[in-house]
Amino acid sequence: MESQNQKKRIFSGIQPSGELTLGSYMGAIRNWVTLQDEYECIYCIVDMHAITVRQVPAELRRRSLVQLAEYIACGLDPSKNVMFIQSHVPQHAELSWILGCYTQFGELSRMTQFKMKSQQHADNITAGLFTYPVLMAADILLYQADLVPVGEDQKQHVELCRDIAQRFNGLYSDTFTLPEPFIPKLGARIMSLGDPGSKMSKSDPDGCVYMMDKPEDIQRKFKRAVTDCEAAVKFDKVNKPGVSNLLTIYCAASGKTVQEAEEAFAGQGYGVFKPAVADAVVELMRPIREETERLIADKSYLESVYRDGARRAQGIAQKTLSKVQRKIGFLAR
Ligand code: TYM
Repeated sequence: MESQNQKKRIFSGIQPSGELTLGSYMGAIRNWVTLQDEYECIYCIVDMHAITVRQVPAELRRRSLVQLAEYIACGLDPSKNVMFIQSHVPQHAELSWILGCYTQFGELSRMTQFKMKSQQHADNITAGLFTYPVLMAADILLYQADLVPVGEDQKQHVELCRDIAQRFNGLYSDTFTLPEPFIPKLGARIMSLGDPGSKMSKSDPDGCVYMMDKPEDIQRKFKRAVTDCEAAVKFDKVNKPGVSNLLTIYCAASGKTVQEAEEAFAGQGYGVFKPAVADAVVELMRPIREETERLIADKSYLESVYRDGARRAQGIAQKTLSKVQRKIGFLAR
């Protein structure tokens, strides 16, 4: 018990705003699995973040449950990790309001994701979309997380979280642990198969591979992946972004280095390379998809995991929230 308390803590989350993708897996979840023995890990399904853009209610409910099944199927052990649904722990919303009063309008205006999403959803730019990074800061700071394993696109949000924490600590003495982003060397930014200039995202069905895609769909998507007309399997992000992305995926899936992969496909065209990438992804995802399907059928088990997770999360979160409320001058209840 003693040594458990000395472990450093990790927090991360994924939005159930679409089916999980190869990007979510390679950029985030895969790292979570490798960290679960060394750290005390808390993993969240951030449904409150998901509603910053319009969701179909029944779909949001279904995906939140499937996402938990996927976390477990990827190898996250519910007895080692706390896994829960964000909206089940009201402390997130409470701390988010408070931290919003310590965050500048200008800081939020500079967030790249806000700029992009407000273009994509120009008819529905809500206050929630704008203050999204404050809720993310509350997620992380409530648990005094040391490390936040995320893909590259979330780095800016984790840095803002540090700034907010530092500001608060400066005003009221040490309250929050300053978190560090933990970004994988390989797979931190998986690009769209259809447009290697933009990130693979849940909302782009053609350019993205979903973790639950059937093998034939994965094969078809890779066959259609955008490459170039040079027919050389070489890593060159600037001149060959499509091929470089496929190489990254191949290496992350097969465990080979880029050099080994280049050598293996030397002199061979994309007609050989693309199906080989697809095969590597199919084999990586097969056990995860099968285990997810098995787990989804056991709804009561999944419910027990997220209820137990919320109870454990709430215990930790309330300690931080009470401390914050006291420091800023709220009267004790
Ligand atoms: P989200 O749901 O967009 O993505 C979940 C995780 O997957 C990573 N990721 C990728 N990595 C590599 N290549 C890609 N194409 C790719 N697409 C997604 C993301 O970087 C992320 O790690 N705001 C967060 C969710 C969140 C959170 C948090 C994360 C809410 N609170 C607290 C950490 C800590 C988000 O929208 O991630």
